[in-house]
Amino acid sequence: MVRFLILALLASLGFATVVAAAFGSAGWWVLAAAVLLVLGLGVHDVLQTRHAILRNFPVLGHLRYLLESIRPEIQQYFIERNYDGRPFDRDTRSLVYARAKGADSHKAFGTERDVNELGYEYLLHSTVPVAPPSSPHRVRIGGPDCARPYDASLLNISSMSFGSLSKNAVLAMNKGAALGGFLQETGEGGLTRHHLEHGADLFWEIGSGYFGCRDDAGRFDPESFAAKAAHPNVKGITIKLSQGAKPGLGGVLPAAKVTEEIAEARGVPQGVDCVSPASHSAFRTPRELMVFVRTLRELSGGKPIGYKFCVGSRTDVLAMCKAMMETGVTPDYIIVDGSEGGTGAAPLEYEDHVGTPLTEGLMLVHNALVGCGLRERIKLGAAGKVATGSDIVKRLIQGADFTMSARAMMMATGCIQAQKCHTNECPVGVATQDARLMRALDVEDKGNRVHNYHKLTVREAEQIMASLGVADPGRLNQRMLRRRVDHLTTRSYASLYHWLRPGELLMDPPRGWRLDWEESDADHFGEHADTPWLEPTASEAAALERQRSVFAEASGKGWRRPDGARRRGRSVVVILAEPRRTEPGAGPGGPATPRIAGDAVRPEGRP
Ligand SMILES: Cc1cc2nc3c(=O)[nH]c(=O)nc-3n(C[C@H](O)[C@H](O)[C@H](O)COP(=O)(O)O)c2cc1C
Ligand code: SF4
Repeated sequence: MVRFLILALLASLGFATVVAAAFGSAGWWVLAAAVLLVLGLGVHDVLQTRHAILRNFPVLGHLRYLLESIRPEIQQYFIERNYDGRPFDRDTRSLVYARAKGADSHKAFGTERDVNELGYEYLLHSTVPVAPPSSPHRVRIGGPDCARPYDASLLNISSMSFGSLSKNAVLAMNKGAALGGFLQETGEGGLTRHHLEHGADLFWEIGSGYFGCRDDAGRFDPESFAAKAAHPNVKGITIKLSQGAKPGLGGVLPAAKVTEEIAEARGVPQGVDCVSPASHSAFRTPRELMVFVRTLRELSGGKPIGYKFCVGSRTDVLAMCKAMMETGVTPDYIIVDGSEGGTGAAPLEYEDHVGTPLTEGLMLVHNALVGCGLRERIKLGAAGKVATGSDIVKRLIQGADFTMSARAMMMATGCIQAQKCHTNECPVGVATQDARLMRALDVEDKGNRVHNYHKLTVREAEQIMASLGVADPGRLNQRMLRRRVDHLTTRSYASLYHWLRPGELLMDPPRGWRLDWEESDADHFGEHADTPWLEPTASEAAALERQRSVFAEASGKGWRRPDGARRRGRSVVVILAEPRRTEPGAGPGGPATPRIAGDAVRPEGRP
């Protein structure tokens, strides 16, 4: 009904303006033409079948699409408060922009945050703060087998490929990193001439596509790897296992984006989809991963070799530790990426629901390495919404030695969080291959901004540490960071989590770690590859059999429990059976582990 009213109204208007034009001035013809055009649009809307809203509400329905298209801008400019924008709130973005410009980043009148809300975290200052160090702290990356260790900054540019970033963005970051003496990680798209332009220190990232070091079949090619790794600007090599925003998922750079330049840099054909498989072909097991680390170390002439991943199951992390101990090969560094991490493009389900957040992932890897006595040999990096000085300090307290930032560096390069990176239409030229849009990004200016942002943020982190009373990050401890856990209680990270003692897993794994520790295997990834606790022991099988016969006896009239009580209807049978493994403090055979017949129950002690 409404649609006919709209069309009738437009038709009447059209008729009236045509009549007015026939008798009045020429200007009426313009109005008549406009009304007739809108009428034509209305007729088209009613006849088309793709959009129900346009069929029912011709012409007016377009308003919805218009408002939808400017929703992010309305949200960002008019609705978002200073502290609740996502992924980065307005306060954080403004801080990055101000620091990048070298402008005043102070704020007047006190915090806008609710310091009483659950999850609120704060750092504990000292009554006797110390002076910040005169020169920025550097972190030595390079274990005992590394011939050419590298001293890294506390904050570096996290992996972002040329391809997902524009040429000018890569160049600006490269310039900023060169000026500030910090690392730029290349991203899995590989090492390109843009990464070498200004002479920044680089960590070359190798993903499952082995871009820049692959043979025609897409497998790892030692020769081309060795040639590239020899470049003096390449200070280390990162094997990418997974990425927080889309762990367990490969990637595709669509054919349209595979320009001649990108094809050349990646060693793939131009104009064909460029695929990164979900897993590596050079290794399948933790042990093989360590062998690969050793191979890369040899091929690179002893440069630091590390890997980056978003934590999945704890058994996988422990399996890596076992592989390190059994092979005697340790990576020089591990970068933990949180599930809150960014990407050029990923399915929403992955961004929102797959992978371990940085806090949990980082502490897990740190603890696993400590528990195996390996922590001294390996430096830990953390990536996941690190943008401010306090972010850096918090991550150091949670176990990191250094941090990596992707999106804050993009913001320093001009990103306005329009979140269109996957469309090739980035309005500021940061994440696009469109030369027209990219031209707006001035490499000189933005390079200086990246440099400023890094310098002032690291300085702030060191100032905060000085306020906590420590001049060296190594003296930070988990009591310095507290978290509100309910409305009356805050707890320090020291008490919130179980921090392992050096070698504890080797000597006496604590109850909460024991099952995963025993299950983990240097020759397998995959927590659920083998789940022996789901299969009943002989005594459990006998108990199950007895239980089944009770069911059979009761046959629908209600059933008799083994203790003699009667119940009506169907229910789940809980059998108290002997556990498979002896737990500490338990009597012979350990405490009974609850099992539900025909279903899987996680034994107590597994997180
Ligand atoms: C545009 C973009 C491209 C990225 N490309 C890669 C990549 O090639 N390899 C990788 O390991 N991580 C990649 N990442 C993830 C980042 O390196 C980083 O680990 C993650 O975004 C967390 O850091 P952030 O919160 O500071 O952005 C990318 C992130 C963004 C935003
Ligand atoms: S401005 Fe938008 S499209 Fe461009 S890099 Fe930033 S988030 Fe991506």
